[in-house]
Amino acid sequence: MSTISGFGLGLRTEHYRDFLDGRPQVDWLEVISENYLVPGGKPLHVLERIRRDHPMVMHGVSLSIGSTDALDLAYLHELKALAARIEPVWVSDHLCWTGVNGHNLHDLLPMPYTEDALRHLVERIGRVQDILGRRMLLENVSSYVAFAGDEMDEWTFIAELARRADCELLLDVNNVYVSSRNHGFDARRFIDAMPRGRVRQIHLAGHEDHGTHLVDTHDQPVCDAVWALYRYTVQRLGALPTMIERDDHIPPLAKLLAELDHARVVQAAALADDRVAMAA
Ligand SMILES: [Fe+2]
Repeated sequence: MSTISGFGLGLRTEHYRDFLDGRPQVDWLEVISENYLVPGGKPLHVLERIRRDHPMVMHGVSLSIGSTDALDLAYLHELKALAARIEPVWVSDHLCWTGVNGHNLHDLLPMPYTEDALRHLVERIGRVQDILGRRMLLENVSSYVAFAGDEMDEWTFIAELARRADCELLLDVNNVYVSSRNHGFDARRFIDAMPRGRVRQIHLAGHEDHGTHLVDTHDQPVCDAVWALYRYTVQRLGALPTMIERDDHIPPLAKLLAELDHARVVQAAALADDRVAMAA
């Protein structure tokens, strides 16, 4: 698999003009696949222009890989056609289900962490990867509730899934933190369990703190606790391609670039810590 390195941003319509008119300091862009599935649309035209100057990865929200509904083959073929057009370095979606019996709940819902669910996912991921002709990255979602029938930790489930399905992982450090606070586990145990070599990309984002629980809103800057967990992640997994994911209250591009600069500083500090530790 080809790769990218460095620091990226999620491409948002609010910043199209910045990317069409100049060359902002980002190493790559992540695009929401569903925004560009209509052939001949204006968004696709803009995307192709921006693609000339920037490596891209595709990120979807509709795969619903965990659902018991049949895979949406029409969607998968549209996704494959878009990938042929913009040649992303990789294609990702979420480790979740978004509906059942044909009802779309418009949310990224957590899986039951069971052997049955593992088998179900491994079979479906295999079919998706065969159709797309490439390995997929799947992202851990944030959650607020858990299934009473869980048989293992989320991190054990994800590591085992990546191994059995031969897929890759997109590690959302904010989602790990949000879930750790909501369910009361140590976020570092989650990071410790992630298989080095399978994690290809990192998301950082902001959330809302309601005291009793956190809500994964992606509408504000990354908080200090998530920066600290990112630093820990880099120490454990190395310098992975990292991006800021902002989906609401989109600020001017300069603000996101400044936040991305902070990610660069945190990653460099984490790697320097590592070197000091190895020299000691
Ligand atoms: Fe994410």
